[in-house]
Amino acid sequence: MGGGEKPQLIINGKRLDGRMPDELRPIKIEVGTIRNAVGSSYIEWGNNKIIAAVYGPKEALPKHVQDPERAIIKCRYTMAPFSSLEEHGRSGPNRRSTEISKVTKEVFENVIMLEKYPGAEIDIFVEVLQGDGGTRAAGITAASVALAASGIPMTDMPYGVSFGKVGDQVILDLNKIEDNYSDADMPIAISPRTGDILLLQMDGTLTPEDVDLGMHMVRKAGEYITKLQREALKQSYEKISEKYKK
Ligand code: CDP
Repeated sequence: MGGGEKPQLIINGKRLDGRMPDELRPIKIEVGTIRNAVGSSYIEWGNNKIIAAVYGPKEALPKHVQDPERAIIKCRYTMAPFSSLEEHGRSGPNRRSTEISKVTKEVFENVIMLEKYPGAEIDIFVEVLQGDGGTRAAGITAASVALAASGIPMTDMPYGVSFGKVGDQVILDLNKIEDNYSDADMPIAISPRTGDILLLQMDGTLTPEDVDLGMHMVRKAGEYITKLQREALKQSYEKISEKYKK
């Protein structure tokens, strides 16, 4: 939500970028962007450009953070200093990035089979190269693919997407300007296999009916996002098998 003169965000039923209320921005996912990582991905989600990279499992350090029963996850979400017009200063952690790192970590604590790697750590990096609203959801979607590519066992491959409200209209997948001037927004992450909600945050006010409608949009969009995630992984395996055929 933001201040200033509020622009009209929906004109004749369409949003400023031409989308319908329940329409996602275009999404493209690529696997294997960072060679050094155990698993990695790159996502373009509207004007968001985000890299996710996974390292580990490896011995958790320092030793006192180790859990003898299961692996721990370390997650670092950051926005590159050049990622938006807003002032990011030095690209160290700040309050917002610390929060997003925490909620992202909690999403994956629910699906990674941590008990398989006692004493280990798994590192998840989410680096926003260009940000345009909804980066935590897009980052979770990308990190999910990077984790799957790393071969770390998971019970499911979550996706993230947000919805919100402009005036009395519930809309899916807010971009930056919509996010700035919306009356509410609610980022969500879901485990598609079980339907469990793994992330739910809210800024602003929504009625129970708005949440019902928004969740319906999210789950419908989720089917498509899940398909894109799987296709990206499949393509990367096809590329590898092509290489070994030659
Ligand atoms: O990105 P997301 O919607 O998950 O998080 P937000 O805190 O609601 O931020 C919305 C958008 O504002 C981001 O996606 C960025 O484009 C922008 N933003 C920024 O550029 N710098 C910040 N320090 C905070 C937000």
